[in-house]
Amino acid sequence: MNHFIYHDNVLHAENLSVEEIAKAVGTPFYLYSHATLERHFLVFDGAFARLPHITCYSCKANTNIALLRMMGKLGAGADIVSGGELAAALSASIPPERIVYSGVGKTEEEISYAVRTGIAMINIESEGELQLIAAVGKRMGKQVPVSIRVNPEIDAKTHPYITTGLRKNKFGVLWEDARRLYSNIDRSEYLTSVGISSHIGSQITEIPPFVEAIRSLKRMIADLSASGVHTKYIDIGGGLGITYKNELPPHPEEYARAIRTELKGTGLTLILEPGRVIVGNSGAFVTKLLYVKETPDKTFYVVDGAMNDLVRPAFYGAYHEIVPVTPKRAKKVKVDVVGPICESGDFLARNRKLLPMDPGSLLAIMGAGAYGFSMSSNYNSRTKVPEVLVKGDEFFIIRQRQTLQDLLRGESIPGFLEV
Ligand code: LLP
Repeated sequence: MNHFIYHDNVLHAENLSVEEIAKAVGTPFYLYSHATLERHFLVFDGAFARLPHITCYSCKANTNIALLRMMGKLGAGADIVSGGELAAALSASIPPERIVYSGVGKTEEEISYAVRTGIAMINIESEGELQLIAAVGKRMGKQVPVSIRVNPEIDAKTHPYITTGLRKNKFGVLWEDARRLYSNIDRSEYLTSVGISSHIGSQITEIPPFVEAIRSLKRMIADLSASGVHTKYIDIGGGLGITYKNELPPHPEEYARAIRTELKGTGLTLILEPGRVIVGNSGAFVTKLLYVKETPDKTFYVVDGAMNDLVRPAFYGAYHEIVPVTPKRAKKVKVDVVGPICESGDFLARNRKLLPMDPGSLLAIMGAGAYGFSMSSNYNSRTKVPEVLVKGDEFFIIRQRQTLQDLLRGESIPGFLEV
């Protein structure tokens, strides 16, 4: 369900024509719908209303502070993986006591920042990290609330790059080691165990892997409680998938029902870390057709957006629906939609049947709200694109297009090279 719809044969975001927005901001750009984002958050969070829970939106999916602020106002906490994401969440006024922090490589600086801020929980991913957090707690004279991110050894049946709960993955700690780490926490003056956490992967389109993971966590909690360690939070991570093409992921209600059944009567507070399911289908990437290039084997639609702006197709072979902003009634043609970057992997779609388009017309790449802008780069010295939020019949530029000065900022030529 989203608010990208055609009126009078022109794609609109809520009440605004995408063509008009493009005229005002130029192309390419990311476009988000406020109503869609709000609805996705409320449907997801509302599905858990009957369980004590915190929905910690996973910032990595899209860190724009306007979107973070919106979600904070709706009651979201944040799941962060870096000091940068902590800064973004705080500047969006997300309360620190609703922030949880995962990641295998937290630096001392990042840990100190999180401890100073007083976030809800740091999810520890190794023994070395545990020791460093304890040392930071000692230096600051603070008790640090922590959990162990365990590796539940579950196959989430998703793309190998986004599965995280398998024995061979770098994430989390295997139970045999986690037990020992919990007793280290217990003995530490500066660490307090407040929970257990896990995240098994992303774009998961079925319920059983989640249920299996929760059962595994419950067994671990029982084990801990037998040795006197009390658990308040059960953090099950994110990972619920969305429809990009013809996937049929469970509705949040169905996902919540399965989780409720597992957690009823446990007295635990559930922490959820959804990213994609909240923001994925709330955003589109709008790009302009520059050239139609015919070769004996293929037709290329060369557009002004590229893999540096939206890397998912190139990186994961991901499918994003592509629609013309002003469709022509005609027979579809098979094309590769490619960007200007000097890489054969720079494509947004391959062998895709699209309505014929003329240079100058606009394409909307759908489902680009999650891991779109947040994974973008400056490769080929391309400036990062603006982000635009539509609310009803108004639009707001929530990130400016980078300028060439922005691009060169911070670089310098040493004196010995001066002309
Ligand atoms: N929590 C943790 C600890 C995570 O590592 C992730 C995602 C999430 C929550 C949120 O997962 P979600 O609800 O969005 O599935 N760049 C990839 C996705 C990478 C996901 C990494 N971790 C993509 O474009 O598909």
